[in-house]
Amino acid sequence: MSNETSQTSPTPDEEPAGKPSYYITTPIYYVNAKPHLGTAYSTIVCDTQARFRRMDGCDVKFLTGLDEHGQKVADSAAQHGMTPQQWVDSMVPDFKDLWRELEISNDDFIRTTQPRHVRSVQHFWEVMRDRGYIYKGRYEGWYCVPEETYFTPTDVRHAEVNRDRPEDQPLCPDCGRPLSRVSEDSWFFRLSAFQQPLLDFYDAHPDFIQPQIRYNEVRSFVEGGLKDLSVTRTSFDWGIPLPFDERHVTYVWFDALINYLTAVGYGDPTDEGAREFARRWPAQTHVVGKDIIRFHCVIWPAMLMAAGLEVPEHVLAHGFLLVRGADGKGEKMSKSRGNAIAPRQVIDLLGVEGYRYYFMTDVVHGADGAISFERMAQVYNSDLANSWGNLVSRALNMAAKYFDGRSPRRATDYAVRESPLSQAADGIYDRYAAAMRAFDYAAGAREAMRLVEAANLYIEQTAPWALAKDPARADDLRFTIWGLLEAIRIAATLLWPIMPSASAEVMRRLGLPDVPGDDLRGACAWGQFEGGEPVTKGEALFPRLDDEAVAKAGE
Ligand code: MSP
Repeated sequence: MSNETSQTSPTPDEEPAGKPSYYITTPIYYVNAKPHLGTAYSTIVCDTQARFRRMDGCDVKFLTGLDEHGQKVADSAAQHGMTPQQWVDSMVPDFKDLWRELEISNDDFIRTTQPRHVRSVQHFWEVMRDRGYIYKGRYEGWYCVPEETYFTPTDVRHAEVNRDRPEDQPLCPDCGRPLSRVSEDSWFFRLSAFQQPLLDFYDAHPDFIQPQIRYNEVRSFVEGGLKDLSVTRTSFDWGIPLPFDERHVTYVWFDALINYLTAVGYGDPTDEGAREFARRWPAQTHVVGKDIIRFHCVIWPAMLMAAGLEVPEHVLAHGFLLVRGADGKGEKMSKSRGNAIAPRQVIDLLGVEGYRYYFMTDVVHGADGAISFERMAQVYNSDLANSWGNLVSRALNMAAKYFDGRSPRRATDYAVRESPLSQAADGIYDRYAAAMRAFDYAAGAREAMRLVEAANLYIEQTAPWALAKDPARADDLRFTIWGLLEAIRIAATLLWPIMPSASAEVMRRLGLPDVPGDDLRGACAWGQFEGGEPVTKGEALFPRLDDEAVAKAGE
């Protein structure tokens, strides 16, 4: 990805310590449903990137939050006998608690009911009106409340063909649920005016939408023509009122997308707001699921163009998590099929570190990933218990045993001494950083794991227990154990964005600071570890999982 090259460069006094800004967002989640594996997945993908970028010298703003308006929320609140505000307030702790447990390091948490967002959306409306991109009309058509999406008659007919429902009950072409008839006065956004500007934009920014398959999909959708979009509702009031026509509330998607602007000071009249906006906008990356790319890659850029604002650098669309069925193929998780997996079940089986490692390395970004408890246990046991955890425990045990509880000191000639580990670490930063910047976390983790494998092999080949018996080889023993600890330090650094607690624990055991720095390239250079500090053997970092634990997880 070309984030660095396409970034605008703020003037030095706007830049804390001269760091480039990196602004990354998750979708804001509907409050109706509790957080689940899918929403946690989007959030951990962003968290890993945010952590990597901080370590790599960026001034990161990582935003997540909740989408709290719309008809669906108003309906759910009524069903629960609450006001919409009470209902949304009651759902917030579920998200915040799970994110805390999963070590999500967001810098901000936006809720679309916050005054800063209401102000920002209303400001956006004024701008739309002043620039002539909205007009008043009447909407007649269909609306899917669960998806909060309008459908044209063509889409609806298509849906009817697929189902044996009476003609008078059209169904949503996306989710298959019944559509509601909408007939009301509405303000419209001139989306049709942006067909050519959008196509020109995609041409000029071929890496705007990733992966490529989604880029092609979006492009051909836009080539097919764009209709103006109804962007206000009058039949209910749970939304942000238009500043110049209070009977209308903002269509929930129009409201939700603006959250990305609100969080960086849009509509904030203070100097501080203006400075923050100049520094942070445009965002570097919106991470979204493939189901909401049209909103992010068609409607959102058009809204921004209409407002005279820059379009974000990248929209990264991930696939869906599917559960592996009996036939080995992926199927959609659903409560009715009884195959839905809750985040709690995964945390109980793998722990938070294992959870994050599994989803970030075994689910190919951009593709749909079929997950299963068996596969989780396999990845955990082979990479974390047998390779990584085992290396840490063997090396620290030997250091403690042969060097009286301390790490051996670095030899003065370490840089010129041959070691397969220094060779394995050579160039590791460039390979790792390229993979991480491209959100290819599997490849990023593989760099760390290659070093781990090289270190495990090195133990077998050098047999430190034999060296320890021969006083003439004391220097070799020292150099060997030091090399192992140095390889561990680098591997823990590379794994930090994916497994923050485990890496911090490894650093503590090595006698090193347990907060990551911001010079990743420097930290990856071979030979940083000076040694001479007390080391801690500690409990197994990743105790092996047996078949019984896996069977229990699925119950
Ligand atoms: N509120 C809107 C987003 C507004 S952003 C301005 C929304 N919310 S959502 O809660 O329904 O979904 C949020 C994200 O979760 C989407 O990116 C969606 O793709 C993702 N996932 C929901 N189920 C999923 C899986 N089973 N697997 C992976 N991600 C999935 O849409």
